[in-house]
Amino acid sequence: MSLTEQLGIEVPLICGAMYPCSNPELVAAVSAAGGIGVVQPLSMIYVYGHDLREGFRLIRRLTSKPVGMNVLIEQSSKFYLDRMKTWLDVALEEGVRFFVTSLGNPKWVVERVAPLGGVVYHDVTERKWAEKGLAGGVHGLIAVNDRAGGHAGPKSAAQLRDELGDLGVPLVCAGGIGDAAGFVAALKMGYAGVQMGTRFIATDECGAHADYKQAIVHASEADIVHTERVTGVPLAVIRTPYVERIGLKAGPIARWMLRGRRTKHWMRTIYALRSAWQLKRASLAGGAREASSKDYWQAGKSVAGIDRVEPAGAIVRRFAAALSATGTAPPVRPRA
Ligand SMILES: Cc1cc2nc3c(=O)[nH]c(=O)nc-3n(C[C@H](O)[C@H](O)[C@H](O)COP(=O)(O)O)c2cc1C
Repeated sequence: MSLTEQLGIEVPLICGAMYPCSNPELVAAVSAAGGIGVVQPLSMIYVYGHDLREGFRLIRRLTSKPVGMNVLIEQSSKFYLDRMKTWLDVALEEGVRFFVTSLGNPKWVVERVAPLGGVVYHDVTERKWAEKGLAGGVHGLIAVNDRAGGHAGPKSAAQLRDELGDLGVPLVCAGGIGDAAGFVAALKMGYAGVQMGTRFIATDECGAHADYKQAIVHASEADIVHTERVTGVPLAVIRTPYVERIGLKAGPIARWMLRGRRTKHWMRTIYALRSAWQLKRASLAGGAREASSKDYWQAGKSVAGIDRVEPAGAIVRRFAAALSATGTAPPVRPRA
């Protein structure tokens, strides 16, 4: 079955979950236009202040089309995992049937979702994680490449297509796509669909600050750097005066703690809490380009193809038109 058939959508285009940039209006706008928006529960609750169930109902009032939800599996915190299980149940009760899992083992998500007819796609950066996800029963893979926003992988889109193309499930390309030509090219490469993040930040519906959106519009690929200073692992951000000043490597104490068997868990928790707060503030505030700012703006190399802020639906429709102009339907399955 193709990605569009599997998800009940018209355009094989996913608006990926983004902490702290996914707000219900953005998710709804992408789905309403025929793609599919993915809710990031922490962003919904902690950044935009909605109760999760109310957030889904708000989306429902804006569109009756399908939406998805991101399930970040952070096994090291029982508190967080329990909360995630509750959020998954809320999403299922509210009719969500598409889930994108990241990190960890997605088996428990598949076991809850598949009996209700739902579909689970797993974010992966290499074959080892793909095989683990497939052993857990996932229905498709999202191949996160080295040009992606958020936590990029080490490999290119072509390498991932070759490495994961024979696994027998639809493969979605995530990373580096900012314009219609890139979207069509990914599908021609053999991908079943595309997941975009950065492109959808520069939209009217996204709740991020106008300065952040303009920074994406004006950035070139060379302005995207990977810093360890926010989450402890490389995160794609726009190079601002603060990023230049402070450098890209984790500090010496953090590095030492990340090496220790016990201390690494504390350090990860410290990073998780601090980055959640830091990124929320940065997304909602302007002025990260000011020399005095300590804010980070996340974006991937797809900034190269983004030249204006526009409605999310216009992007989905333009990409769909470019696809139908080629006369090629997206492949049912990735190339074996
Ligand atoms: C600001 C930002 C935040 C992100 N947060 C998440 C997240 O919380 N969970 C997740 O699975 N992926 C996250 N991602 C990855 C996106 O879902 C998507 O895979 C990625 O943005 C694709 O690359 P692109 O930005 O070049 O389009 C994030 C990406 C960005 C740009």
